[in-house]
Amino acid sequence: MGKAVCIIGSGNWGSAIAKIVGHNVRDRRELFDPLVRMYVYEEMVDGEKLTEVINTRHENVKYLPGVQLPDNVVAVPNLLEASKDGDIYIFVLPHQFVADICATMKGNIKKDSIAVSLIKGVSITEGGIKLISDVITEELGIHCSAMMGANLAGEVAKEQFCESTIGSTNEENGQMLKRLFETPYFHCMIVNDTPTVEICGALKNVVGIGAGIVDGMNYGDNTKAAVIRLGLMEMIKFAELFSPGSKVSTFFESCGIADLVATCHGGRNRMLGESVVKSSKTVKELEKELLHGQSFQGPLVAREIYHILETKHMLEQFPMFMAIHKICEREMDPSQFVSCLRNHPEHM
Ligand SMILES: NC(=O)c1ccc[n+]([C@@H]2O[C@H](COP(=O)([O-])OP(=O)(O)OC[C@H]3O[C@@H](n4cnc5c(N)ncnc54)[C@H](O)[C@@H]3O)[C@@H](O)[C@H]2O)c1
Repeated sequence: MGKAVCIIGSGNWGSAIAKIVGHNVRDRRELFDPLVRMYVYEEMVDGEKLTEVINTRHENVKYLPGVQLPDNVVAVPNLLEASKDGDIYIFVLPHQFVADICATMKGNIKKDSIAVSLIKGVSITEGGIKLISDVITEELGIHCSAMMGANLAGEVAKEQFCESTIGSTNEENGQMLKRLFETPYFHCMIVNDTPTVEICGALKNVVGIGAGIVDGMNYGDNTKAAVIRLGLMEMIKFAELFSPGSKVSTFFESCGIADLVATCHGGRNRMLGESVVKSSKTVKELEKELLHGQSFQGPLVAREIYHILETKHMLEQFPMFMAIHKICEREMDPSQFVSCLRNHPEHM
């Protein structure tokens, strides 16, 4: 029997990955069950249930319009029903929903199932950070890998070539996930440094806001390159402090520098940074106006890491992260952003 795959989440990225996974399990029946269940947080779209639209028209009209999903991907609105008897769980939803999702699944899944997190974010504890893969492992008692990279969902859905990084401490699970996700246009590389893969995924969204801020102020490519470089230095420093054993080489995988560059040129968090400069609205108002149900992950992560750094009296070592949080909260004027870069500790 092939392994049953369940996708937990069905937003922009969840739907793009459903397209890949649906095709791959069909082509690789020796490894996978050809039916994929996708948990969909039910909502009404133009008077119709989203699950019904997905199951009849095979398109997620709200989160990934215009892209045909394979008909072996079945949308299920009940989480327990969707996750029953799964062997591989793909977690792909905004990080703020993970705790509730795991609480519902706990005790209701196979003990030898495995998980992979595609979620860009971290969970905050009193002492520091907790990786989402660790939250999933602790709550559900199953091994969890992570997959992150320069993978803007719309481009992946159009089958434009890109790379992604699978972080897995278990070689066999890493190889299985590569078989599940890899296509000629979606190239997967495996590393065993899962924590750094996830830290990159969380922090690059914060730097992406910084890139948007300089775009909003009409700075050019040189300034943006400085934001990317200094942002990378802060990401590496953060990983060294909060995830001892983190490898600098992981920052040169797709999850690191490539995702950072993509996020600083495209994507929602860059757009948010630009909008924060050009309007006086709050982040919540901008999210409602610009994203129609999707969420900005960058400001949440920026707030969380700000509080950790504040508690540990380390804010001055991370002036870019600090400034981005304060600008999002409207506690700092965006015009001060470039001064923070000018006086960066990397220049001292
Ligand atoms: N979009 C991308 O290009 C992309 C690429 C790589 C990784 N990611 C990451 O993937 C994760 C998911 O992002 P996305 O783009 O698929 O989502 P999204 O922002 O497009 O959509 C939000 C999702 O949250 C769901 N939701 C809303 N309220 C909920 C609730 N109370 N409980 C459970 N679910 C709820 C919605 O149904 C929807 O599926 C994020 O961590 C993101 O950073 C996104």
